[in-house]
Amino acid sequence: WPASAERVDGELQVGGVSASELRERFGTPLYVLDETEVRAHARRTLDAFRAATGRHGVMTRVYYAGKAFLSTEVVRWVTEEGLAVDVCSGGELEVALAAGAVPAHVGFHGNNKSMAELERAVEAGVGSIVVDSPIEIERLAAIVERLGATQPMLLRVRSGVHAETHDFLATAHEDQKFGFSLDDAPAAVARIREITGLVFIGLHCHIGSQIFDSSGFTESASRLVEVHAALLEDGDIPVMNLGGGFGIAYTSVDDPQPIEQIAEGIVAAVAQECAVRGIPMPNLAFEPGRAIVGQAGVTLYEVGTVKPVVVSNDLTRLYVSVDGGMSDNARPALYGANYSARLASRVSEAAPALARVVGRHCESGDIVVDAEYLPGDVAPGDLLAVPATGAYCFSLASNYNYTPRPPVVAVRDGQARVIVRGETVSDLLARDAGLAAAMEGNA
Ligand code: LLP
Repeated sequence: WPASAERVDGELQVGGVSASELRERFGTPLYVLDETEVRAHARRTLDAFRAATGRHGVMTRVYYAGKAFLSTEVVRWVTEEGLAVDVCSGGELEVALAAGAVPAHVGFHGNNKSMAELERAVEAGVGSIVVDSPIEIERLAAIVERLGATQPMLLRVRSGVHAETHDFLATAHEDQKFGFSLDDAPAAVARIREITGLVFIGLHCHIGSQIFDSSGFTESASRLVEVHAALLEDGDIPVMNLGGGFGIAYTSVDDPQPIEQIAEGIVAAVAQECAVRGIPMPNLAFEPGRAIVGQAGVTLYEVGTVKPVVVSNDLTRLYVSVDGGMSDNARPALYGANYSARLASRVSEAAPALARVVGRHCESGDIVVDAEYLPGDVAPGDLLAVPATGAYCFSLASNYNYTPRPPVVAVRDGQARVIVRGETVSDLLARDAGLAAAMEGNA
């Protein structure tokens, strides 16, 4: 929950705005993002890494990983707090640029960036492009030659560390699509250094996402330092980017280490490894996404139906259907992610009942909260709030079952305003070329 979440007269408020006011003004389902909370996490994360690197006399740059949640407002908040921005597609790049992010403080990722995307990034003057394959090095070589540009680049590597997280979220073990193996890195860097216009500035590794402690990061960092040290023989390397992936608590059983401890752990490991090898410590960069926005988001749903299902002699489960589901939060279906839910529009004295909060889509896997005790009198018209939905919910949303995607409302100091408008059915129909053709035929 955001720090601002509280009960006033029995009703949940976020950012000083009540659940019922949010429903009246903006409808449900609704993504609510607490601006103060996003800014606070941005600042705290930056402070944590600055403090840790400062102790070793080097600098840090924290990129906000826009894939977690991107809109021009959020770019403005995080850049005002001192963060740079990491984008991983042409679309994300356009959002960052439209928001006025300083191009030199934008990093560009992706394992299959198109020629057009690469050209746009180089022309815009992004501060770094994280290169993911030999083919991409040659594409960039052609672009910088044609444009007469100079482009700083990082090389993404697989450190071989298999992060302790869901398999789909681990990204540095060998058998997956991202980056170069550590063995192949030296030849790739040599090739980059050969090309006028490409400037190799450091290695990059992102081991995965929703990770709770620093052990995987420190192991990965040590392996990177070894390669970094070897590469120093042929030229200066100002930075090392260790990616993002710092986990958050989705439910009360999740217990991630505080970001300060994680930062200390990672930075100390790099410092120690550099000392052992007798090399100067590089500046460090990080790319947290979830840790910045995850806890700042709450999704509001309205209950539509409530149905007890007798599962066995001693188990009856209350199926509580809400007006959204896997189209606004795909994470339970994709990763078996767990969430919690609270009755937001009132308090109830009714005995708690084991409930499963489900969506409105045509799949039994369309689950919002798998198991939660809700007041036994939960009823149609009640509002449910699902916390920790700031990251990878809006950004992974779909139009499944021709469902319009919900708006995003920012709350702060008792004020609420739309930062991304909701879709309408007309938006969805507007893309139907058959319909346009039929209307022309009728005209
Ligand atoms: N840097 C790189 C290169 C990444 O690929 C990612 C996430 C991040 C940084 C930010 O990771 P974070 O700090 O947010 O964990 N859809 C999944 C997460 C996919 C993460 C993809 N890459 C989910 O909902 O859990």
